[in-house]
Amino acid sequence: MTIAQIWAQDLTGAIGKDNTIPWRIPEDLARFKKLSGSGAVLMGRRTWESLPVRFRPLPGRRNIVITRNAAYQAPGAETVAGLSEAVELAGGAATIMGGSAIYEAGMAVATHLYVTEVDILVDGADTFGPEIDPNVWTVVSRGEWLTSRTGTRYRFVDYRHVSR
Ligand SMILES: NC(=O)c1ccc[n+]([C@@H]2O[C@H](COP(=O)([O-])OP(=O)(O)OC[C@H]3O[C@@H](n4cnc5c(N)ncnc54)[C@H](OP(=O)(O)O)[C@@H]3O)[C@@H](O)[C@H]2O)c1
Repeated sequence: MTIAQIWAQDLTGAIGKDNTIPWRIPEDLARFKKLSGSGAVLMGRRTWESLPVRFRPLPGRRNIVITRNAAYQAPGAETVAGLSEAVELAGGAATIMGGSAIYEAGMAVATHLYVTEVDILVDGADTFGPEIDPNVWTVVSRGEWLTSRTGTRYRFVDYRHVSR
C-alpha cells in the first residue's frame, strides 16, 4: 500500500501561519494534484477548514477529515476519529495532506514523502512539518531549485521509507 505524505515547508520547516499556507506556488499545487491522483486525501479538521469553500472537497478524490468531534460536519467529505481509521477507510492509495499532528502521526505509517522546500523564512509561522530521520528515510530525488511564476523559489525533494 502506498501512503504518501505531501507538504511544503519554508527553510525552517514551517508549513502554516494563521491557518493558511504563507506563500503561493501554483506549480506546487499542480504537483499535489498530480501526485494525489484519484486516491483518498486524508487531513486534519483545520486543514479541511483552511481550504476555500469552493475548492472543497478536493475533486476526484475521496476526502477524509480527522476530528475528535463526532458531530463535525464536513460536507462532501467523510469524518473519522484518527489517522489509523482514515488509512483503513482509504483502503488503498492514500495521501496525507496535513497538518502538523497528522503529519507527525503519519511518519509511522507513510511509505513516501514528497516535500517541497520553499526558499523563504516565514515570519511568525505557527505550524511546522515533521522531522525527517535520515536513518529511515532515503532521498530518492532532490530537484533543482525552480522559480515559480509568482517569483518564489522552491524545489521538490522525494523520500522513500527504507523498509516499508
Ligand atoms: N504547507 C503545507 O504543505 C500545508 C499542508 C497542510 C496544512 N498546512 C497548514 O497547516 C495549518 C493547519 O494545520 P494544523 O496542524 O493547525 O491542523 P490540522 O492537523 O489540519 O487539524 C488539527 C485538528 O485535527 C484533528 N486531529 C489532529 N490530530 C488528531 C488525532 N490524533 N486524533 C483525532 N483528531 C485529530 C483535531 O480536530 P478537532 O479539533 O476537530 O478534534 C485537531 O484540532 C494551516 O496553516 C494550513 O494552511 C500547510
